[in-house]
Amino acid sequence: MIKIAILASGAGSNALRIMEHFAESPLARVVLLGSDNPSAGALDHARRMGVPTVVWTRADFAGGSAPLADLRATGADYLVLAGFLRLVPLNVIEAYRDRIVNIHPALLPAYGGKGMYGNRVHEAVIAAGESESGITIHRVNERYDDGAVIAQFRCPVLPDDTPATLATRIHTLEHRRFPETIEKDIKNLKKI
Ligand code: GAR
Repeated sequence: MIKIAILASGAGSNALRIMEHFAESPLARVVLLGSDNPSAGALDHARRMGVPTVVWTRADFAGGSAPLADLRATGADYLVLAGFLRLVPLNVIEAYRDRIVNIHPALLPAYGGKGMYGNRVHEAVIAAGESESGITIHRVNERYDDGAVIAQFRCPVLPDDTPATLATRIHTLEHRRFPETIEKDIKNLKKI
């Protein structure tokens, strides 16, 4: 049984889908939801699902030892960033290398990097006149949005889209694809 920890800063709609997806799974279970934001909706979803939660302060991240200690205490062996907006401490990346995945709401390497999250991404995609956008699920390394791509899924950008309507379409795609992509990745890891 693979133990998943989810890191999330915001509303947590992806975190919820992942917790639901693995709630009855013989393959994996979500054992922790960690956040840097005490008012993250993701924490409420976790509490409702009976998943333990932890909130890390800015100082916790600067040191890096508290997040890693909490992850180890739960026995987590796979990390999922689901709308987590902070750079993961280096000691956590080193401890979980190749076992941390992130979701980005665009087709990387386009529209990625520091400061590119949530609606800012959709604003940039629309401002550039793109006819297509999508999501990227990728491994996490020391740099923002830079690790190896695991999967990408595409959707149209419509002429009358606003950042809000595009965000809704992207979220629908994320909810459908992120849990199944994590499941496939975990199955592959287990074969190694
Ligand atoms: C998701 O769309 C995710 O792709 C994005 O934040 C949103 C979180 O929504 N992540 C990034 O922009 C990372 N650069 P959620 O809290 O409802 O899951």
